[in-house]
Amino acid sequence: MVLKTAALHIGMLASVAALALQPLPALAQQPAPVHLEVDATHQGPTISRDIFGQFAEHLGTGIYGGIWVGPDSPIPNVRGIRSDVVAALRVIRVPNVRWPGGCFGDNYHWRNGIGPHATRPATLNPDWGGVIEPNSFGTQEYFDFLGQIGAEAFISENIGSGTVQEAADWFEYMTSGKPTTLAKERAANGHLAPYAVKYLGLGNENWACGGAMSPAHYVEEMKRFSRYTRNYNPAQQSPSAAMKRVAVGWDSGNDDFTDAVMKAWKEKNWAWDIEGVSLHGYTIPNSWEKKGPSVGFGEDEYAKGIRATLKMKEWIAHQSAIMDKYDPDKKVGLYVDEWGIWTDSNPGTNPGFLQQQNTLRDAVIAALNLNIFMRNAERVRGANIAQMINVLQAMILTDGPKMVVTPTYHVYRMYVPFHDATLLPVTFDAGTYRFGDTSLPAVDAVAVRDRAGRLWLSLVNVDPNHPAHIAASIGRTTARSATGEVLTASSVDAHNSFTSPNQVAPRAFVGRRSGGLLLFDVPPKSIAVVEVR
Ligand code: AHR
Repeated sequence: MVLKTAALHIGMLASVAALALQPLPALAQQPAPVHLEVDATHQGPTISRDIFGQFAEHLGTGIYGGIWVGPDSPIPNVRGIRSDVVAALRVIRVPNVRWPGGCFGDNYHWRNGIGPHATRPATLNPDWGGVIEPNSFGTQEYFDFLGQIGAEAFISENIGSGTVQEAADWFEYMTSGKPTTLAKERAANGHLAPYAVKYLGLGNENWACGGAMSPAHYVEEMKRFSRYTRNYNPAQQSPSAAMKRVAVGWDSGNDDFTDAVMKAWKEKNWAWDIEGVSLHGYTIPNSWEKKGPSVGFGEDEYAKGIRATLKMKEWIAHQSAIMDKYDPDKKVGLYVDEWGIWTDSNPGTNPGFLQQQNTLRDAVIAALNLNIFMRNAERVRGANIAQMINVLQAMILTDGPKMVVTPTYHVYRMYVPFHDATLLPVTFDAGTYRFGDTSLPAVDAVAVRDRAGRLWLSLVNVDPNHPAHIAASIGRTTARSATGEVLTASSVDAHNSFTSPNQVAPRAFVGRRSGGLLLFDVPPKSIAVVEVR
């Protein structure tokens, strides 16, 4: 209301700013209006759609039950892959799926997961609950799933317990276009054409579950795996189409790996290379031992979660500074290939399955992180939220035949226009959201131009108590309208369940034009995405 009155009377940016400096007594509790300015003429970096990537590990019911139900299941499926999940994932245009781990990846032996199901061995999943791994979902099922949802492959290979030869054979099996014995085995298993692997993850967290290696040891292993894990797919031989190799970097607390990897890269010879370094950064609202509940919490837990998630900004800045030291031209990308909120598991569930509910708080966390990645698009070329289905900050929850999409899923759907868009500079005063001793930026915003030339804004109001009144000026152009969607709900821990699937769902949202400005009343604790015309 404040902003509407002001803008109607004065209609100029300078006056809006002046209003912010002179709060009226009656409005003392209300946050000041936010003046936001987009430089629509500037060509920023391209936001790789791989920033919206997913992660699917053999963990809990992420794969078994979440994706794979088997061809004989009463749950509708195509070749064993559940159709409701595929339909939901197609909507959010998943660019790539990192698989098979995670920690599981350094236990994974690919030969267990090829060929007829009847002959596949049952093994164990020692990292995640010690349950039996039936190996029913292996290489051919992974690529079938990717084909069904329209995503590309990101394979995390086994450096911890596998050999270089095993990895080399897997990649020859998957990618050879020539009729080698391994390629013929692939054809006999149903796929004549070589598979395309866009990303190769050179191990996973090899400072811990991937073999507890020292940085120096990892670098030596990584060089051998980079050298011998070859991509033979003839369609991927040009530099732009070539497979990209991502080495292991920091774990949100220790930068030794990034430094060692980047130093080695600077000194590398022709025999090996990498195109990326990873960053794993989870949002833990409280402590590792007692992370905090995933649902049934109030503003205190909400504020802690938002404060924890904003560390991503510092982690990326810190990693980028190390990378800049060795690679000022930004040839090597930073891949945040595991991130998301990690809470206590749902009571009564197997603690090794990492099952948690997903709330409006998590949607705000998703949007804030995606915005951080986009703002750092020059260095951040990919990110994979952990994890896609039924695990940690999931897009989708399933239970037998039941399926529900989460608030985080809705953010991924609303952000589709940001895939491969160009970042536009935005300036705004974020204001402050206070809870107890915690002070956080109240508002966040990103502007992009999509590949069709349309301009989009993401506006996040972190404050759970007050709307954000935003007055946006779009460079020197006269924006006529802004239409889109907003995601909010009655409480910070609102969530969707199988019986109540639409507690948190987007609704229509518009901006109002006033003078040369677009005015937005962004509700408390919400994410709005609008197209500006
Ligand atoms: O996402 C769960 C686990 O978290 C992954 O397996 C591991 O890489 C990380 O520590």
